[in-house]
Amino acid sequence: MTTTLIVLAHPSRQSFTGAWAEASAAACAAAGHEVLWSDLSAHQFDATEGARHFGQDEAGPFDPLKAHEAAVAAGTVPMDMAAEAEKIRQADQIIFHFPLWWFAPPAVLKGWFDRALVHGDLHTVEERFDTGRCRGKRALFCVTTGAGPAECGPGGKEGDVNMLLWPSAYTLRYLGFDVYVPEVVHGVHGYFEGAEKTALQARLAGVLDGQAGLVDGFDQRPLMRFNADSDFDESGRLKAGAERHNGFIK
Ligand SMILES: Cc1cc2nc3c(=O)[nH]c(=O)nc-3n(C[C@H](O)[C@H](O)[C@H](O)COP(=O)(O)O)c2cc1C
Repeated sequence: MTTTLIVLAHPSRQSFTGAWAEASAAACAAAGHEVLWSDLSAHQFDATEGARHFGQDEAGPFDPLKAHEAAVAAGTVPMDMAAEAEKIRQADQIIFHFPLWWFAPPAVLKGWFDRALVHGDLHTVEERFDTGRCRGKRALFCVTTGAGPAECGPGGKEGDVNMLLWPSAYTLRYLGFDVYVPEVVHGVHGYFEGAEKTALQARLAGVLDGQAGLVDGFDQRPLMRFNADSDFDESGRLKAGAERHNGFIK
Protein backbone atom coordinates (compact mmCIF):
# COMPACT_ATOMS: atom_id res chain seq x y z
CA MET A 1 0.00 0.00 0.00
CA THR A 2 1.25 3.49 -0.85
CA THR A 3 1.73 5.82 2.11
CA THR A 4 1.35 9.52 1.30
CA LEU A 5 2.32 12.31 3.65
CA ILE A 6 0.54 15.63 3.13
CA VAL A 7 2.62 18.57 4.38
CA LEU A 8 0.56 21.76 4.61
CA ALA A 9 2.33 25.06 5.25
CA HIS A 10 -0.50 27.58 5.50
CA PRO A 11 -2.00 29.16 8.62
CA SER A 12 -5.58 28.36 7.58
CA ARG A 13 -7.21 25.12 6.46
CA GLN A 14 -10.01 27.34 5.07
CA SER A 15 -7.70 28.91 2.50
CA PHE A 16 -7.59 27.60 -1.04
CA THR A 17 -4.21 26.07 -0.20
CA GLY A 18 -5.83 24.25 2.74
CA ALA A 19 -8.72 23.04 0.59
CA TRP A 20 -6.26 21.86 -2.05
CA ALA A 21 -4.35 19.85 0.57
CA GLU A 22 -7.61 18.28 1.71
CA ALA A 23 -8.42 17.43 -1.91
CA SER A 24 -5.02 15.68 -2.18
CA ALA A 25 -5.69 13.74 1.00
CA ALA A 26 -9.17 12.72 -0.20
CA ALA A 27 -7.83 11.66 -3.60
CA CYS A 28 -5.06 9.60 -2.02
CA ALA A 29 -7.48 7.96 0.42
CA ALA A 30 -9.85 7.15 -2.46
CA ALA A 31 -6.91 5.57 -4.33
CA GLY A 32 -6.30 3.32 -1.31
CA HIS A 33 -3.26 5.13 0.13
CA GLU A 34 -2.56 5.43 3.81
CA VAL A 35 -2.62 9.20 4.39
CA LEU A 36 -0.44 10.92 6.99
CA TRP A 37 -0.70 14.64 7.77
CA SER A 38 1.75 17.32 8.80
CA ASP A 39 -0.41 20.44 9.05
CA LEU A 40 2.44 22.58 10.33
CA SER A 41 0.35 25.47 11.63
CA ALA A 42 -2.31 23.24 13.21
CA HIS A 43 0.44 21.20 14.89
CA GLN A 44 2.13 24.48 15.92
CA PHE A 45 5.40 23.11 14.56
CA ASP A 46 8.28 25.12 16.00
CA ALA A 47 10.18 26.15 12.89
CA THR A 48 13.06 27.83 14.69
CA GLU A 49 16.08 25.64 15.34
CA GLY A 50 17.89 26.28 18.61
CA ALA A 51 19.79 24.88 21.57
CA ARG A 52 16.66 24.80 23.73
CA HIS A 53 15.30 21.82 21.75
CA PHE A 54 18.31 19.79 22.89
CA GLY A 55 18.38 20.90 26.52
CA GLN A 56 21.38 23.12 25.82
CA ASP A 57 22.03 26.63 27.06
CA GLU A 58 20.66 29.15 24.52
CA ALA A 59 23.52 31.51 25.38
CA GLY A 60 26.20 28.91 24.73
CA PRO A 61 27.71 27.59 21.50
CA PHE A 62 25.35 25.43 19.43
CA ASP A 63 26.16 23.27 16.41
CA PRO A 64 22.85 22.05 14.93
CA LEU A 65 24.34 19.21 12.86
CA LYS A 66 26.32 17.88 15.82
CA ALA A 67 23.28 18.29 18.08
CA HIS A 68 21.16 16.24 15.66
CA GLU A 69 23.82 13.50 15.41
CA ALA A 70 24.29 13.30 19.18
CA ALA A 71 20.54 13.14 19.78
CA VAL A 72 20.14 10.35 17.20
CA ALA A 73 22.98 8.37 18.81
CA ALA A 74 21.54 8.86 22.30
CA GLY A 75 17.92 8.26 21.28
CA THR A 76 16.98 11.73 22.51
CA VAL A 77 15.79 13.39 19.29
CA PRO A 78 13.21 16.02 20.33
CA MET A 79 9.71 14.55 20.06
CA ASP A 80 8.42 16.97 17.43
CA MET A 81 11.42 16.32 15.16
CA ALA A 82 11.25 12.57 15.72
CA ALA A 83 7.53 12.50 14.90
CA GLU A 84 8.07 14.32 11.61
CA ALA A 85 11.10 12.19 10.70
CA GLU A 86 9.08 9.03 11.36
CA LYS A 87 6.31 10.21 9.01
CA ILE A 88 8.92 10.93 6.32
CA ARG A 89 10.38 7.45 6.85
CA GLN A 90 6.95 5.85 6.50
CA ALA A 91 5.96 7.87 3.44
CA ASP A 92 6.44 6.59 -0.09
CA GLN A 93 5.57 10.06 -1.32
CA ILE A 94 5.07 13.53 0.10
CA ILE A 95 2.71 16.14 -1.32
CA PHE A 96 3.60 19.63 -0.11
CA HIS A 97 0.96 22.35 -0.22
CA PHE A 98 2.00 25.96 0.33
CA PRO A 99 1.62 29.49 -1.05
CA LEU A 100 4.58 31.41 -2.40
CA TRP A 101 5.47 34.06 0.18
CA TRP A 102 8.21 36.53 -0.69
CA PHE A 103 9.44 34.40 -3.58
CA ALA A 104 9.87 31.34 -1.36
CA PRO A 105 7.85 28.87 0.74
CA PRO A 106 6.50 30.18 4.06
CA ALA A 107 9.09 30.19 6.86
CA VAL A 108 7.40 27.29 8.66
CA LEU A 109 8.27 24.98 5.78
CA LYS A 110 11.89 26.12 5.72
CA GLY A 111 11.99 25.48 9.46
CA TRP A 112 10.49 22.02 8.92
CA PHE A 113 13.31 21.29 6.48
CA ASP A 114 15.82 22.58 9.06
CA ARG A 115 14.48 20.48 11.93
CA ALA A 116 12.52 17.50 10.59
CA LEU A 117 15.18 16.38 8.11
CA VAL A 118 17.20 15.05 11.01
CA HIS A 119 20.92 14.87 10.36
CA GLY A 120 22.36 11.48 11.24
CA ASP A 121 18.96 9.92 10.66
CA LEU A 122 17.41 10.90 7.32
CA HIS A 123 20.75 11.99 5.88
CA THR A 124 24.41 11.67 6.71
CA VAL A 125 27.59 13.08 5.21
CA GLU A 126 28.13 9.77 3.40
CA GLU A 127 24.53 9.15 2.36
CA ARG A 128 23.23 12.09 0.36
CA PHE A 129 22.36 12.97 -3.25
CA ASP A 130 22.77 9.75 -5.32
CA THR A 131 23.26 7.71 -2.14
CA GLY A 132 20.60 9.57 -0.12
CA ARG A 133 18.70 7.62 2.49
CA CYS A 134 15.33 8.66 1.00
CA ARG A 135 15.99 7.10 -2.43
CA GLY A 136 12.81 5.63 -3.88
CA LYS A 137 10.60 8.28 -2.27
CA ARG A 138 8.86 10.92 -4.36
CA ALA A 139 7.77 14.50 -3.64
CA LEU A 140 5.44 17.00 -5.30
CA PHE A 141 5.04 20.70 -4.55
CA CYS A 142 1.49 22.04 -5.01
CA VAL A 143 1.97 25.79 -4.87
CA THR A 144 -0.25 28.86 -5.13
CA THR A 145 0.96 32.28 -6.25
CA GLY A 146 -0.78 35.62 -6.08
CA ALA A 147 0.88 36.71 -9.32
CA GLY A 148 -0.27 35.54 -12.71
CA PRO A 149 1.35 32.91 -14.96
CA ALA A 150 3.28 35.32 -17.22
CA GLU A 151 4.80 37.14 -14.24
CA CYS A 152 5.85 33.78 -12.71
CA GLY A 153 7.29 32.28 -15.90
CA PRO A 154 10.69 32.66 -17.59
CA GLY A 155 11.41 36.38 -17.98
CA GLY A 156 8.53 37.24 -15.66
CA LYS A 157 8.72 40.17 -13.27
CA GLU A 158 8.08 37.96 -10.20
CA GLY A 159 10.85 35.52 -11.09
CA ASP A 160 10.48 32.10 -12.66
CA VAL A 161 8.58 30.08 -10.05
CA ASN A 162 10.41 26.90 -11.04
CA MET A 163 13.70 28.59 -10.16
CA LEU A 164 12.28 29.96 -6.91
CA LEU A 165 11.24 26.43 -5.93
CA TRP A 166 14.58 24.88 -6.90
CA PRO A 167 16.31 25.26 -3.49
CA SER A 168 13.39 23.46 -1.81
CA ALA A 169 13.41 20.73 -4.45
CA TYR A 170 17.19 20.38 -4.12
CA THR A 171 16.80 19.95 -0.36
CA LEU A 172 14.73 16.84 -1.05
CA ARG A 173 17.09 15.73 -3.81
CA TYR A 174 19.92 15.97 -1.24
CA LEU A 175 18.06 13.33 0.76
CA GLY A 176 17.64 11.18 -2.33
CA PHE A 177 14.03 11.98 -3.23
CA ASP A 178 12.75 12.09 -6.77
CA VAL A 179 10.91 15.39 -7.17
CA TYR A 180 8.04 15.83 -9.60
CA VAL A 181 7.73 18.97 -11.70
CA PRO A 182 5.75 21.35 -9.43
CA GLU A 183 2.03 21.94 -9.82
CA VAL A 184 1.42 25.69 -9.57
CA VAL A 185 -1.90 27.55 -9.48
CA HIS A 186 -1.39 31.22 -10.28
CA GLY A 187 -3.44 34.32 -9.61
CA VAL A 188 -4.85 33.15 -6.26
CA HIS A 189 -5.87 36.16 -4.16
CA GLY A 190 -8.83 37.80 -2.51
CA TYR A 191 -8.85 41.10 -4.43
CA PHE A 192 -11.30 40.30 -7.21
CA GLU A 193 -14.95 41.34 -7.06
CA GLY A 194 -17.97 40.48 -9.17
CA ALA A 195 -17.43 38.51 -12.36
CA GLU A 196 -13.67 38.22 -11.86
CA LYS A 197 -14.20 36.75 -8.39
CA THR A 198 -16.77 34.29 -9.75
CA ALA A 199 -14.37 33.25 -12.51
CA LEU A 200 -11.52 32.73 -10.02
CA GLN A 201 -13.76 30.65 -7.75
CA ALA A 202 -14.79 28.49 -10.71
CA ARG A 203 -11.15 28.03 -11.76
CA LEU A 204 -10.11 27.02 -8.23
CA ALA A 205 -13.07 24.63 -7.92
CA GLY A 206 -11.80 23.02 -11.13
CA VAL A 207 -8.37 22.53 -9.54
CA LEU A 208 -9.93 20.77 -6.55
CA ASP A 209 -12.07 18.60 -8.84
CA GLY A 210 -9.01 17.68 -10.88
CA GLN A 211 -6.83 16.65 -7.95
CA ALA A 212 -7.89 12.99 -8.07
CA GLY A 213 -6.74 12.85 -11.70
CA LEU A 214 -3.45 14.49 -10.77
CA VAL A 215 -2.84 11.97 -7.98
CA ASP A 216 -3.81 9.04 -10.22
CA GLY A 217 -1.40 10.31 -12.90
CA PHE A 218 1.69 10.48 -10.68
CA ASP A 219 3.43 7.68 -12.54
CA GLN A 220 3.25 9.63 -15.81
CA ARG A 221 4.22 12.96 -14.25
CA PRO A 222 7.67 14.26 -15.30
CA LEU A 223 10.40 14.49 -12.70
CA MET A 224 12.69 17.46 -12.15
CA ARG A 225 16.14 16.64 -13.51
CA PHE A 226 19.21 16.90 -11.31
CA ASN A 227 22.86 16.21 -12.02
CA ALA A 228 24.24 12.87 -10.90
CA ASP A 229 27.12 12.81 -8.42
CA SER A 230 29.37 11.66 -11.28
CA ASP A 231 28.67 14.93 -13.15
CA PHE A 232 30.85 16.81 -10.62
CA ASP A 233 34.62 16.81 -10.36
CA GLU A 234 36.56 16.18 -7.14
CA SER A 235 36.31 19.82 -6.10
CA GLY A 236 32.50 19.67 -6.43
CA ARG A 237 32.26 21.66 -9.67
CA LEU A 238 30.13 20.58 -12.59
CA LYS A 239 32.38 18.94 -15.15
CA ALA A 240 32.80 20.66 -18.51
CA GLY A 241 30.33 19.13 -20.92
CA ALA A 242 27.96 17.87 -18.21
CA GLU A 243 24.32 18.69 -18.91
CA ARG A 244 22.98 21.75 -17.08
CA HIS A 245 19.48 21.32 -15.71
CA ASN A 246 18.86 24.64 -13.98
CA GLY A 247 20.07 28.18 -13.45
CA PHE A 248 21.67 27.50 -10.10
CA ILE A 249 24.38 25.08 -11.22
CA LYS A 250 25.73 26.38 -14.49
C1 LIG B 1 3.67 37.39 3.20
C2 LIG B 1 3.19 37.17 1.80
C3 LIG B 1 4.09 37.21 0.76
C4 LIG B 1 3.67 36.95 -0.54
N1 LIG B 1 4.60 36.89 -1.54
C5 LIG B 1 4.22 36.53 -2.79
C6 LIG B 1 5.19 36.33 -3.81
O1 LIG B 1 6.38 36.46 -3.62
N2 LIG B 1 4.75 35.97 -5.05
C7 LIG B 1 3.41 35.81 -5.33
O2 LIG B 1 3.06 35.49 -6.46
N3 LIG B 1 2.47 35.96 -4.36
C8 LIG B 1 2.84 36.30 -3.10
N4 LIG B 1 1.91 36.42 -2.11
C9 LIG B 1 0.51 36.09 -2.42
C10 LIG B 1 0.22 34.64 -2.07
O3 LIG B 1 1.02 33.76 -2.81
C11 LIG B 1 -1.24 34.34 -2.30
O4 LIG B 1 -1.97 35.18 -1.43
C12 LIG B 1 -1.57 32.89 -1.97
O5 LIG B 1 -0.94 32.04 -2.89
C13 LIG B 1 -3.06 32.70 -2.04
O6 LIG B 1 -3.37 31.38 -1.64
P1 LIG B 1 -4.30 31.14 -0.35
O7 LIG B 1 -5.63 31.79 -0.68
O8 LIG B 1 -4.39 29.66 -0.23
O9 LIG B 1 -3.62 31.79 0.81
C14 LIG B 1 2.30 36.69 -0.81
C15 LIG B 1 1.38 36.70 0.26
C16 LIG B 1 1.82 36.92 1.54
C17 LIG B 1 0.83 36.86 2.66
